[in-house]
Amino acid sequence: MKSISLNRFFFFLVFSIPFCISAQKHTERELILIDKDWRFSFGHLYDTQKDFNHATGYFSYLAKTGYGDGPAAPAFDDRAWRKLDLPHDWAVEQSFSEKASFSHGFKTAGKNFPEKSIGWYRKKINIPETDKGRIISLKFDGVFRNSKVFFNGHYLGTEESGYNGFEYDITAYVNYGGKNTIVVRVDASMEEGWFYEGAGIYRHVYLKKTNPIHVAENGTYVTSEIKENNAEVTADVTIENKGSYKGMIEVVQTILEASGKQIATISENTTTPDFYKTIHYTSKLQVNNPLLWDIENPNLYHLMTQIKQDGKIIDHYETTFGIRTIKFDAEKGFFLNGKSVKLKGTNNHQDHAGIGTALPDELQYFRIKKLKGMGSNAYRCSHHPPTPELLKACDELGMLVIDETRLMGINDYHLNNLKRMIERDRNHPSIFCWSVGNEEWKIEGGIVGERITNVMQGFTKSIDTTRPVTVGISSGFKSGISSVVEIMGYNYLGNGDIDAHRNEFKQQPGMGTEEGSTFAARGIYFTDDTKHYQSAYDRKPRPTFYSIEEGWKFYATRPYLAGLFIWTGFDYRGEPTPYGWPSVTSYFGMMDVCGFPKDNVFYLKSWWGNEPVLHIMPHWNWSGMEGKEIDVWAYSNCDEVELFLNKKSLGKKKMKQYGHLEWKVKYTPGTLEAIGYKNGKKVLSEIQKTTENPENIKLSVDKENQTNSNVVVVTVETTDKNGVHVPTANHEITFSLKGGKILGVGNGNPTSLEKDQFIDNIELLPITDFEEKKLASADSNQKVTDSEDNWLEGFKDRDYKNQAPAYVYRGKFDLKSNLKTNTVTFFYKKIGANAVISVNGNKIAPSTEDDQKYVFNTSVLKQGTNAIQIIAQPLQKLKEWDVMNTDPGIIQVITPSEPWKRKLFNGYAQIIIQKEDNTNEVVLSAAAKGLNAGSLTLKK
Ligand code: GAL
Repeated sequence: MKSISLNRFFFFLVFSIPFCISAQKHTERELILIDKDWRFSFGHLYDTQKDFNHATGYFSYLAKTGYGDGPAAPAFDDRAWRKLDLPHDWAVEQSFSEKASFSHGFKTAGKNFPEKSIGWYRKKINIPETDKGRIISLKFDGVFRNSKVFFNGHYLGTEESGYNGFEYDITAYVNYGGKNTIVVRVDASMEEGWFYEGAGIYRHVYLKKTNPIHVAENGTYVTSEIKENNAEVTADVTIENKGSYKGMIEVVQTILEASGKQIATISENTTTPDFYKTIHYTSKLQVNNPLLWDIENPNLYHLMTQIKQDGKIIDHYETTFGIRTIKFDAEKGFFLNGKSVKLKGTNNHQDHAGIGTALPDELQYFRIKKLKGMGSNAYRCSHHPPTPELLKACDELGMLVIDETRLMGINDYHLNNLKRMIERDRNHPSIFCWSVGNEEWKIEGGIVGERITNVMQGFTKSIDTTRPVTVGISSGFKSGISSVVEIMGYNYLGNGDIDAHRNEFKQQPGMGTEEGSTFAARGIYFTDDTKHYQSAYDRKPRPTFYSIEEGWKFYATRPYLAGLFIWTGFDYRGEPTPYGWPSVTSYFGMMDVCGFPKDNVFYLKSWWGNEPVLHIMPHWNWSGMEGKEIDVWAYSNCDEVELFLNKKSLGKKKMKQYGHLEWKVKYTPGTLEAIGYKNGKKVLSEIQKTTENPENIKLSVDKENQTNSNVVVVTVETTDKNGVHVPTANHEITFSLKGGKILGVGNGNPTSLEKDQFIDNIELLPITDFEEKKLASADSNQKVTDSEDNWLEGFKDRDYKNQAPAYVYRGKFDLKSNLKTNTVTFFYKKIGANAVISVNGNKIAPSTEDDQKYVFNTSVLKQGTNAIQIIAQPLQKLKEWDVMNTDPGIIQVITPSEPWKRKLFNGYAQIIIQKEDNTNEVVLSAAAKGLNAGSLTLKK
């Protein structure tokens, strides 16, 4: 292998590479996002009929290939199913119930709701003739959970994990030049975590097309070694051959800067792997004076791997990577690029207000920016592999990551999941540590835990040599996993003696993988157990739990501890400890589920961030509490803070490192002002003011949104007549949107049972009491009265050799209501030719776009039982064994949802909107009783 410095190839780079990339793209690799235009319907966990009779065929999909039945069959009629785009989480769309899961935020989905635990997804795609000869695959980033995928009726496989990405090769089953059907059956009846996990295809899906000779799935591994001012980059690539070509290929590996400028390239000829075999190919490339990846300057590079056959590029694969060094030191903690970095981390699950786990990519950036804004530099993916976009956001924004697998164990289920996570994620510079487990209470203190950790740790190293391994441990910190894990992960000060452990295991670095589980509801300053409100003052929540301040002081003052990860950055659905129903989200977050800060954010910002901070709590709207003492706290990194009430000083206090300040203040309305001093000089001031009544609705684009983003997070609040935010307002606000779609609404209230989403209701009604009668003539327009004679069960014992010239069929369907706003459609499935369809005696014309679709005007319908009649000439069997359709079709009733709305919680709500693709302007309007309406216009 030759290593060629960049400079020599600069000319080639600038002038030829960009051209090659754009000119060749479509004949090489294509990764096509196929999130749009899916059909969705619920099936049923155990009632086969309600699961569309799937898997009931005499020969089903495990008996004969291509025999996917029910919705898995390509010909299945899904016209009446709901249309939606991915990502999709059906759990968040549901209402709440006490009978539902505590862990999953009491949403009525999952195992106790068999009619809401199976979701079917269908999509049709065209694959052109010109794709013949390419390898075509379906790539899923993650489906919750236990998904079975079918393609053109062929069963492709089952993926149990709700968190792993997976791919299926569909090349052999493709209908080139025509329609192809993708079907996914998702079974979310089982929970993997003890926290909200969503349900459905909640991450992206792609169609991938490559040459038979191509870079394998997650087939690159880029590492670097810094020697003096230069980096030696090792680019390991796995090439797979799914074709019969046997000659030589050329592998070109090129490193590009973020700007696209080429800085190193190398090419070498190698023998093509044999049919269905892979080869590993390693290149060494030099990057002189590399721009290192770090938290402040997350510099990234791209490795472009090209495979050439006879001089022509047949595959091109890009890997984003960063050049940086990481090191844990048992004495001094963690080092990034040789510099000591205290880990100021948070644990997080993956759901957000209003949208559950179906986060658009933009929200990943939004959330990571919020955490960075708090001064945080590290993120633990608790307790499962994240979506790739989260890691992309962390790479690009500069956030260190602990990537965690779901379940400990040494068998294929565990190790295969671990392997796939590492292979998928190991090029992300943000990841500095793998976690192979969390609080495995049954095993963590004993020999079984020790054995499993030894295997998982060694196995991890066999795939990635560059990062250490941790486990979050909660009991005792003495034996078992604690004695062998490479980086000790302490879960909570209250769970054992950290200093004692460290004294026994002096060579073992450590960090607080979880710390400070405190309870707080945003904007609440008096705990009220009847309302399930926990005050936001950072007080020790339980004797064995520590406050955020206690936790940080402990870690900040011990250099041997690399840092800590607070439980949690954001609130999440589920685990509403210390309460249960009707609380539905956690109270642990530094921010609520929307990302609105609780006061603890300012404590952390004071001691984690680099900017001067001064924050006082609580707000100053305490009407009715006049003369009563209120605790006023200040979070600040100033040397001293002086507090004034209505201009009268209440005393200047000295701030201790990592502390906060407290005053007892008798409430009088007016202005509470704090002034912060550094070196005796006033540097900051902060005000809490008694406001007037709320008058206006204010809508604003949150500053953590990406510029020109397609998805926008909007803050909803009220202001008084002076334009001052009213922190106690709890109005219900109704929204309307032009030029886009609302994705979800939230407000951070842990006890809110309001809807997260307002979606039209779709009800599918079967035709019941389906009967038939022979007719003497073939005329479909003949009048047949509904007399009671000679009606037989529809299609029962039909003698296909001696059919009547025509049949009349009748059946019933029940409408719960006959609202004018409903749309009632009959999706007819052909049971005869020249069908004439009537409802309650009125003949209905087919729709113009589909002659087997009939829209029933509500004027011909009634609440309760409706009669449908079909007259048609029978279909003839061509072959004896032909299976004839006997299902007349289904009635779909769409009831439009009520308008989107949400209450403010202590002054704030959030609405997440998505712009339409080709719109120039989006207008969001908000109204509420007694308030001036608000409006927000977003231009493209
Ligand atoms: C820890 C656990 C977390 C979360 C937390 C709540 O024991 O690792 O996932 O459940 O407790 O206090």
